Amino acid sequence: MKRTLSTIITVIIFGGILRADEGMWIPALLQRNEAEMQAMGMKITADDIYSINHSSMKDAVVLFGGGCTGEIVSDQGLLLTNHHCGYGWIQRHSTVEHDYLTDGFWAMTMEEELPCPGLTVTMLKNMVDVTDKVLEGVTDQTTDEERAQLVKENIKKLVEETEKTTEYKVTVESFYQGNQYFLMYNEIFKDIRMVGAPPSNIGKFGGDTDNWVWPRHTGDFSIFRVYVDKDGKPAEYSEDNVPYKPDYHFTISLKGVEKDDFTFVFGYPARTNEYLPSVAVNQEANVIYPVVVDLRTQILDIYNKYQEKDAKVRIQYASKHAGLGNGWKKWMGVIEGIRSFKGIEKKRAFETAYNDWCMQARNRMKYMHALRDFTPVYEEYEKYRMATTYMTEAGFSIELISYAASFAELGEVTKDTPQEEIDNIISSLKAETKAFFKDYYQPIDEEVAVTMLEAYRAAQPEDFRPEILNEIDKKYKGDVKAYVDYLFKKSIFTSEENVNKLLDGFKPAKAKKLMKDPAIVAYNSMYEFYRDNVKDKSKECNDRINNLRRVYMEGQMKMIPEVYPERNLYPDANFTLRVTYGKVGGFKPKDAVTYRHFTTLDGIMQKENPDIYDYVVTDRLHELYDAKDYGRYADKDGSMHVAFIAGNHTTGGNSGSPILNAEGQLLGLNFDRTWEGTMSDLVYDPSICKNISVDIRYVLFLIDKYAGCTRLIDEMTIAE
Ligand code: ARG
Ligand code: GLU
Repeated sequence: MKRTLSTIITVIIFGGILRADEGMWIPALLQRNEAEMQAMGMKITADDIYSINHSSMKDAVVLFGGGCTGEIVSDQGLLLTNHHCGYGWIQRHSTVEHDYLTDGFWAMTMEEELPCPGLTVTMLKNMVDVTDKVLEGVTDQTTDEERAQLVKENIKKLVEETEKTTEYKVTVESFYQGNQYFLMYNEIFKDIRMVGAPPSNIGKFGGDTDNWVWPRHTGDFSIFRVYVDKDGKPAEYSEDNVPYKPDYHFTISLKGVEKDDFTFVFGYPARTNEYLPSVAVNQEANVIYPVVVDLRTQILDIYNKYQEKDAKVRIQYASKHAGLGNGWKKWMGVIEGIRSFKGIEKKRAFETAYNDWCMQARNRMKYMHALRDFTPVYEEYEKYRMATTYMTEAGFSIELISYAASFAELGEVTKDTPQEEIDNIISSLKAETKAFFKDYYQPIDEEVAVTMLEAYRAAQPEDFRPEILNEIDKKYKGDVKAYVDYLFKKSIFTSEENVNKLLDGFKPAKAKKLMKDPAIVAYNSMYEFYRDNVKDKSKECNDRINNLRRVYMEGQMKMIPEVYPERNLYPDANFTLRVTYGKVGGFKPKDAVTYRHFTTLDGIMQKENPDIYDYVVTDRLHELYDAKDYGRYADKDGSMHVAFIAGNHTTGGNSGSPILNAEGQLLGLNFDRTWEGTMSDLVYDPSICKNISVDIRYVLFLIDKYAGCTRLIDEMTIAE
């Protein structure tokens, strides 16, 4: 069984005729793509991109924090990522007096670089196929439960054994839905400092309006530096730490791009689901996303109203707004893309062909059954997914309730709890309290609470929802506003002063009373309903789905190369390092409209609007534009290129990824996809799925000419 699986994978990847654009490839197996990449224009080898025997480009690509990509661009650990990836840190260092979000931040010396405690950068050192070891003992007779247990035990053993032999962090990751496994060795850096960020009206130019949209003019970059201890090893922040000397750093190209140029993107895509059955895609795009979009529309309307009125509130809610707004807009794109691209119909047609293929041989019955069995599970799953969605998207969007939830642990303290444990809880709650109130504006939260509880109550049936919603009916005659007034008046969690008083004078005897706080009561009601009625059922459905997906994937891995030899087979994104490649080029989003592949500073001036925060252009940028003072960063057409699109298959997590040319030199930073193509996480269409990158020449122009931070330019390696 295990033997067959590895063979299948090999056959597929060697056997199929690869088609450009679609696919997120495992760097350790890139040899298989080398010929095609070179045929498309690449001038380097797969070994230059990924090698464990000598330094290679992979040594300069990192996971930035938990969800973005960054790349190293100097021999002193200088790192580039997106502005929206550094955003939380830029915001955390900002106050009304030092507003780095609005004004930008430039460390003119290394001493001025700002520590970011909690931020990590992770670098892949090696990855090894361990499918045989993980599936040891699995046979055709093994049940799903036994298999899950075996896989878990084998992974545990493997990780423990490997940990003894290495200083790196070791994990095992599943590919192809549990049909292939890799052991990953990672090095984690913990002293990362903020070096530079443009003002938001450059780094986030166009804001949420332009987000996901082409043509785009966002200077979406920020700069950090990796520090290590004196021995060059990762270490917690210390004044004595020194800049990291990487094994590899990218050379920067000032040549720019032309239509049809070969490019590749190297980074950390988080999640795609390209092999789902149509029932699942339908539930996603036509049931769940519409609910989330609707709830978030209501919340964002409330944020907007208050953010427009008050500069302080604008900063406080900037990060929260961007976070909610990003998924909100993407999912609208997915819904629309699936509809107009006929994603579900295409999946169904595929399923017909798949069933026909299954019918051709007796031993393919299990593959046919897997596909068939999805339908009843998804039907059952819907109710539980809805309940979860309303809890997280409506219930927990009420900040007071989410914040109070952190105190539940303190509420469970008894007189037998060791004092040290209590002290730890209190000190972490103190930090959380400080952070919470820095960015809290109660009028927003009250309005969100009324709106969300109303939606929650209206959508979830009386016999299947948290008790607190029924209480609103009983005690408040359905008057949500009256309940919310009571909640905010009676809860201690609206006052920083009172919370600190509670924490300072906390005794186990007070725990019981704390649990009666209406915000904790509300949280517990929602959470307990979920725990008692939703959690296990959801997990059960999900486990069944995952088992079906594994078998369905195995079936597809056999069927696709036979029936659709032109189709690419690659594992879904799973937060591991991938390479994707495609050519530079525009697209036709709709009838009569054609998009060029690049934008320029002219477009920024066209979009300028001094009255709209996201479209303000600073005097400094005007001066440089009027004087055409672009230096060596100008394109050969004389203009300043800002962003460009290409056919690379990217997703969330690829933000900040280096986009590289045929020689492997840095052309820009990936930061988005085109809205029309956002359904590419579920179904990919090369004609409209494009990735958006900021041109590295615009980045360097801003660092050099705009900010005058030339010390950073001096440490980079630049190819003119
Ligand atoms: N859409 C991009 C991504 O998914 C950028 C998000 C940040 N930008 C914004 N305007 N919210 O991360
Ligand atoms: N902005 C996304 C990110 O943060 C990349 C856009 C996408 O989803 O492709 O990773």
